[in-house]
Amino acid sequence: MLPLVRATATLVAIALAAAPLSAQARSTQAGYVSFGFAPGERVADMSITDVDGRRGTLSGLAGAAGAVLVVRDAECPVTQRYSPRLVELEREYGPKGYAFTYIDVTPHAAISAKADAAKYGLTGRTILDTDHRLVHALRATSAAEAFVIDARGTLRYRGAIDDQFGIDFHKNAPTMNYLREALDRASLGRDIVRRTTEAPGCLLPIDRAAKGQARPVTYHNRISRLVQENCQSCHRADGNAPMPLDTYRQVADRRATIEFMTKSGRMPPWYAHRKVGVWANDRSLSERDLADLLAWSRNGAPLGNPKDAPSAKKWVKGWNIGTPDAVVQIPDTFRVPAQGVVEYKYSYAKTNFDEDKWVTAMEIRPTAATVVHHVIVFIEEPGREPDAKKRKPGDPAPQGGISGFFGATAPGTPATIYPEGTAKRLPKGAWLKFQIHYTPNGSEHVDQTRIGLLFADKPVTQEVVTRSAFNTRFEIKPYEKNQIVTAEILMRNGGTLLSLFPHMHTRGAAFKYELVTPDSQRTTILDVPHYNFNWQTYYAFAKPLEVPPGSRIVATAGYDNSKDNPFNPDPSKTVKFGEQTFEEMMIGYFDYLPNPAPAVPARADSVRKSSGGAAQR
Ligand code: HEC
Repeated sequence: MLPLVRATATLVAIALAAAPLSAQARSTQAGYVSFGFAPGERVADMSITDVDGRRGTLSGLAGAAGAVLVVRDAECPVTQRYSPRLVELEREYGPKGYAFTYIDVTPHAAISAKADAAKYGLTGRTILDTDHRLVHALRATSAAEAFVIDARGTLRYRGAIDDQFGIDFHKNAPTMNYLREALDRASLGRDIVRRTTEAPGCLLPIDRAAKGQARPVTYHNRISRLVQENCQSCHRADGNAPMPLDTYRQVADRRATIEFMTKSGRMPPWYAHRKVGVWANDRSLSERDLADLLAWSRNGAPLGNPKDAPSAKKWVKGWNIGTPDAVVQIPDTFRVPAQGVVEYKYSYAKTNFDEDKWVTAMEIRPTAATVVHHVIVFIEEPGREPDAKKRKPGDPAPQGGISGFFGATAPGTPATIYPEGTAKRLPKGAWLKFQIHYTPNGSEHVDQTRIGLLFADKPVTQEVVTRSAFNTRFEIKPYEKNQIVTAEILMRNGGTLLSLFPHMHTRGAAFKYELVTPDSQRTTILDVPHYNFNWQTYYAFAKPLEVPPGSRIVATAGYDNSKDNPFNPDPSKTVKFGEQTFEEMMIGYFDYLPNPAPAVPARADSVRKSSGGAAQR
């Protein structure tokens, strides 16, 4: 059964109150935070002395761009193997303003630590940390873990140098250059995609759960970073959401409404159940972030020391995917009125490529982003007239959209970038159909939404395919609250799921995807207990999910056609499938990489026929 309660202000608060309080949570309740080891947070400063006897502070280790700290145990084989790589990285990133420092945990003397660094030609400073004071402060897990700390003391990356060496393996060359990627992105002021990785190498006896150095939560030492990370993608001077949250005053003066919106789970907008699935684009606040934000607010929003402030975040102006290879724009502008409700607007753009194109990345950008709540782009295969042009009054609702899903966006949704070697096909001569949901914001705007596309410049090894579990034959009764509609799809050959995108309209209240494997194991893979039609979004698996051949994907939608549903335009109506806002949809889209069809047909009966009853492969 799906719980069909709408989000209420109390839900999250109850969950928090009921959870047993860890020592850390208790300290944050009083307005204290222990910080320093999660990316995005400020590293607590401490005094250090290097092997040459120079004294200083951890924050003083940074170069113009920041500091790279790497733990080393001279006698650990993984540390040894990484030494030449570190020499290369020093040469490349030293001139870019990164100062390298090695935290030597080998049980030896300073003179041996110096000799070891010299043996490999490492030029950075070395700090002997045999008492584990520094590695404990950073909660370092292994003797090859790297940390990137920017010039303002914010931890930007922690984890492996790359994936070439580990405890019981080494490859000829790395395939993932984590540290290099982090440094490249950090020096451009960009978000680091993989901010935490598992560091291989000899393990350190550090208690990761130990309480850190506790300090009062202030704007400068904690909240400014939290807002940068979790709110400014939408709430900033030139962002898509109202209410910029760029300055202390903007955040502190609005703390009552911020408290209400975050505590109730309304902000940041994110609707998946916390306990189900791990999502690459998860926007929700962690419990720790929420606790600190609330504690700070209730403590009178202390400003703190400006010396603790982070560097300002740089936002990309223009396309996030880089310069697109092609931009397809809707042919006509749309005037969005200052007020009222605007029906979904459909617009068609014909593509004019002389061949099928393989799309590796896409980004949808309205020109009046502040009044666009979502855009879904569908492909209309060539040869087919765009369906809405054919539709006469009284005709049945078009079925378009069930198979043609191409891409979507809502405020704050990142651009879609497919995994290396994979791409989505855009057939030659296809139309792109834009479904746009405009939400007037008090003043008039003119929009002409467009989509930017990047095409593959290397061979594509796997096609990204969008399919869906959908149901078009349902009837939602008037005034009823909990109405369930299901749909399923058989994944005969199986494949790898990349993302899920539940789609309903205003009566949509809850949505869930389950995977049923051939051995009848049933697992919930996405649970959206309080669906919000204003936030049409996809859920990208942090780790793509393997679907065994013969599995089914089962989608369950819950509808609320009662008066209690604040989005409901008319509870007295019986509602059927259709594309208009007042009609309903029940589509569980998913993007996946299909497995190749097996040489032997997957169905047991045809196997028997074709192989004369011989053993199945
Ligand atoms: C993905 C984009 C996005 C993110 C991230 C986001 N917001 Fe919002 N927020 C919005 C939009 C859009 C609105 C306006 C909703 C509307 O149109 O009513 C909004 C509205 C608000 C409001 C106004 C509520 C009111 O009184 O109407 C507050 C306060 C708020 N957000 C706080 C936050 C905070 C704090 C964070 C970070 C912890 C955050 N938001 C993260 C998009 C976002």
